[in-house]
Amino acid sequence: MNKTAYITTPIYYPSGDPHVGSAYTSLAADVYSRAMRLNGVDTKFSTGTDEHGMKIQRSAEKENLSPQEYLDKMSARFRKLSPILNLSEHDFIRTTEERHKKAATAMWNKLVEGGFIYKGNYAGWYSVPDETYYTEEELVDGKSPDSGHPVEWVEEESYYLKLSAFGDKLLKYYEENPDFIQPTSRRNEVLSFVKSGLRDLAISRSSFSWGVPVPGDDKHVMYVWVDALTNYLSAIGWPDDEQWKKYWPAIHLVGKDILRFHAVYWPAMLMAAGVPLPKQVFAHGFLTAEGSKMSKSKGNVIDPQEMVNTYGQDQLRYYLMRDIQFGQDGDFSEERLVNRMNADLANDLGNLFQRVLSMVHKNCGGQVPDLKDVTADDKAFLSHVGEDLVKEYMTHIEKLDFNKALDTVWQIIRLANKYMDTQKPWMLKTTDTQRMGQILRVLMESFCHVSLLVEPFMPTSAAKLQKQIGFTNKTFANLTTETSLLETGATISKPEGVFMRWSNEEAA
Ligand code: MSP
Repeated sequence: MNKTAYITTPIYYPSGDPHVGSAYTSLAADVYSRAMRLNGVDTKFSTGTDEHGMKIQRSAEKENLSPQEYLDKMSARFRKLSPILNLSEHDFIRTTEERHKKAATAMWNKLVEGGFIYKGNYAGWYSVPDETYYTEEELVDGKSPDSGHPVEWVEEESYYLKLSAFGDKLLKYYEENPDFIQPTSRRNEVLSFVKSGLRDLAISRSSFSWGVPVPGDDKHVMYVWVDALTNYLSAIGWPDDEQWKKYWPAIHLVGKDILRFHAVYWPAMLMAAGVPLPKQVFAHGFLTAEGSKMSKSKGNVIDPQEMVNTYGQDQLRYYLMRDIQFGQDGDFSEERLVNRMNADLANDLGNLFQRVLSMVHKNCGGQVPDLKDVTADDKAFLSHVGEDLVKEYMTHIEKLDFNKALDTVWQIIRLANKYMDTQKPWMLKTTDTQRMGQILRVLMESFCHVSLLVEPFMPTSAAKLQKQIGFTNKTFANLTTETSLLETGATISKPEGVFMRWSNEEAA
């Protein structure tokens, strides 16, 4: 592998349990990474926890713990998302780690060296849970416009980043790199924000101490964004370990609420520090739960662990990537999850494998039948799988259009079902076993393609499907129209259902 890629999730505030919102971004990054790796690209995927700030300091105090003790406990809950969802990240970065503090300090020093930091005064209405200052006009009924929490008047000395110097440079960059911010609707929002004029950004605080100290001024700690955003570089060893150059620039997946920080502040900081800009910032939408906004007080926050326990890991993974268009807002509905499980997974895919493999087991002595002298019908069906299909699928993956990538695979699954129904191998059990075997083998060849293409989305189930057909040669480069992927005569074991149907009795 000589090509590389790097994809990141936001680092999560570890102040509660991970919910389906954080799971969603991590899952998308995982699917992308797995697909890229299968396509021969050495892909890094990093995630982690954002551990500084007043809110953390106060939450720790409430539990009578030191911030670090509190964080060790809370961060572990986020790390557990990986086994819960079967994520394949390479790095889990915590901003309280030495390697990160070193990188954040280096970033600060570079900004100072470039003359982009100055000292000033900051005053405003501050909301602790939002970690944000608001102007008088922004408040709603005197409270935070984001969370509705009470605000307090805070005045403090602060270091500023000369963000106002970057407006034109950023606009030029957006224009020259139209895919830098995606989707387009979000890009337009950022463009109009920057066009309306950028104000310098307060980047330090002296009102709390839980943060990375500002170099040369211990009264101040870095404020959330210089610290937090630098995680994307510290996770790959910046600035000392030359490895970072191998993977940078990154694709950042973020929720729409934090797009501005990633598409405006971060590129300005990088320009100021002389580091190349990210490849892309992609903002996904927000998930609601059964039509309502998720909130702790309403008690409707969807717990990924609970969903996995009830419906299965791959089922949840598939549903989130299939039913909700990545980039748009979406709704999490258990009814639709069950529909997808039954229609797409149990019926279209699971049942097809089961029917074909049961016949091979019972009627072909449990051995992979021969593929000699295929007919025009067989060729026509098999012409739909191969390098063109992989290419189309990867185009969608690279655009982070997971739904369309799955759609290309499901088109093949539907064609395979149609081929089975028109060829009717079960009618040939006694009359023409050779032709029956040929049909089953053609289907089994298509299963190699299908099972590998669904692997980034459903790794465990895909491995089971591959094992059942004896498919071991696993990279997308092998998915060609030229070669057959299975060995004639190889023994296959008795097939077992991989995707169960869900009936409401199970819910009872
Ligand atoms: N710590 C910052 C990010 C710093 S990145 C340098 C942060 N953390 S967060 O825990 O509050 O949010 C993490 C991510 O979860 C954000 O991308 C946010 O958009 C996402 N989501 C939170 N609720 C969500 C939904 N209901 N639906 C989808 N994503 C949601 O912000």
